[in-house]
Amino acid sequence: MLLPGDVTLDRITELNPKAVILSGGPNSVHVKDAPQMPAGLVDWCTSKGVPLLGICYGMQLLVQALGGKVEQAEKSEYGRMAIRTTAASLLYEAVDEHVQQVWMSHGDEAKTLPKGFETVATSEQGAIVAIENRQQKIFGLQYHPEVQHSEKGMETLKHFLFSVAGISQDWKIENVLEEEMEKIRLQVGPEDHVICALSGGVDSTVAATLVHKVLGDRLHCVFVDNGLLRYKEGERVMETFEKHLHLPVTKVDDAERMLARLKGKKDPEAKRKAIGAEFIEVFKDFAAKLKAERGLNVKYLVQGTLYPDVIESCPPPGSNQKHSHTIKSHHNVGGLPKDLQFKLIEPLRELFKDEVRALGRLPALNVPEAFIKRHPFPGPGLAVRVLGDVTEGNALEVLRQVDEVFIQALREKGLYDKIWQAFAVFLPIKSVGVQGDQRTHSHVVALRAVTSADGMTADWYQFEPQFLQYVSTKICNEVRSVNRVVYDITSKPPGTIEWE
Ligand code: XMP
Repeated sequence: MLLPGDVTLDRITELNPKAVILSGGPNSVHVKDAPQMPAGLVDWCTSKGVPLLGICYGMQLLVQALGGKVEQAEKSEYGRMAIRTTAASLLYEAVDEHVQQVWMSHGDEAKTLPKGFETVATSEQGAIVAIENRQQKIFGLQYHPEVQHSEKGMETLKHFLFSVAGISQDWKIENVLEEEMEKIRLQVGPEDHVICALSGGVDSTVAATLVHKVLGDRLHCVFVDNGLLRYKEGERVMETFEKHLHLPVTKVDDAERMLARLKGKKDPEAKRKAIGAEFIEVFKDFAAKLKAERGLNVKYLVQGTLYPDVIESCPPPGSNQKHSHTIKSHHNVGGLPKDLQFKLIEPLRELFKDEVRALGRLPALNVPEAFIKRHPFPGPGLAVRVLGDVTEGNALEVLRQVDEVFIQALREKGLYDKIWQAFAVFLPIKSVGVQGDQRTHSHVVALRAVTSADGMTADWYQFEPQFLQYVSTKICNEVRSVNRVVYDITSKPPGTIEWE
């Protein structure tokens, strides 16, 4: 169970957990009002023999609270880092390697450990990155074991939960399906109708298929062409819906209104908020049309919101997660107006993308692989890939062409399915080039391709140089107004996947 940082000890003891994990967070333990653990948590855990693990900020909190010292690191550690085990350890019992690659994201670090603790691993820069008090079963990891790019992270977490804490491994995706379907059965009254915005991506498709299974023709899907779609995306997606999915889908053309709303907006958050608000206007219009033409009462809006959308948009309206920072307002969370006329149905809200894919593949939903394997495409579409004002010049059109060349090249060379997400970004600058013996002053585009499991962390994809050479030549030859192509070699963190 996931609890907010300001949860009380009473609430925790009421749940009687078999293990407690203190998560990471953006704060420093030294800032005023930095989140604390509930008073008495460590004593409760040790008196009950409940193992306690602090991750990143969680480890720093344990170190500070138990009498050690946390200070600003001389060198911050963001992204990939090798660590070395330096002592025998209960937490690493299941890990054979002495050296492992992990994913870091911290500016502070532990300098002196509390009594009873020992260092069991250090980073290649010398930081203390794993500590334990074996007797009291208290552990700390400075890196993020929960992310895919920490090679042995999952093994370490499983060992903590299933061996050290003795928890049984019985979470199943089938149970999620049953639970979510039951929630919808209980929530939606027999006369209520529901709308869902399908984007053609895996999340909204799985969410709609699940809701359709419960509500049948009381679900009405809408596909919005907001002028921010990729090359021929509207036609391609509608065709795939018709061929493979048996959901009723209405296409709405909202390009003019959306682009008018975005005109002159340069700030990424302002753009995201405007897009979220326009989406809601389209849904309201769609619901009004269903009422006027067929007398249907639309009460609910289905969204394919995932857990990472919620985390990165925190704190969303009404949330009590006051210790998270807003990384970006995902259009379906942080962009929602306060007076939303619909109640939300979000069956995927606690899941990560890989879990949504597993859910969609269950025989009961049987979502076609064509949807399951599509790279994620954000709701705000190309608006977060044209930096600055999307309506300036022919930026959207240039980006569409470049993106299409890139994606087709990935398919042609058999690389599409090896990559989690790939796309092009239109930069608001021009550079000098020479094309056909003439000086050009033209657009610069960036290509981004990443590997990830859930979008929370990512690493740049290491193409063969020949592929990059092939694709950059193809782009400059086929898209006349581009004379320079760069490749983004930033991991997440410190970058995010999208540029805005
Ligand atoms: P970032 O850029 O935050 O993206 O590293 C993580 C994943 O989320 C996608 N993304 C979004 N998806 N609405 C969405 O539906 C949004 O507003 C949004 N912003 C980012 C992004 O494409 C990546 O897969």
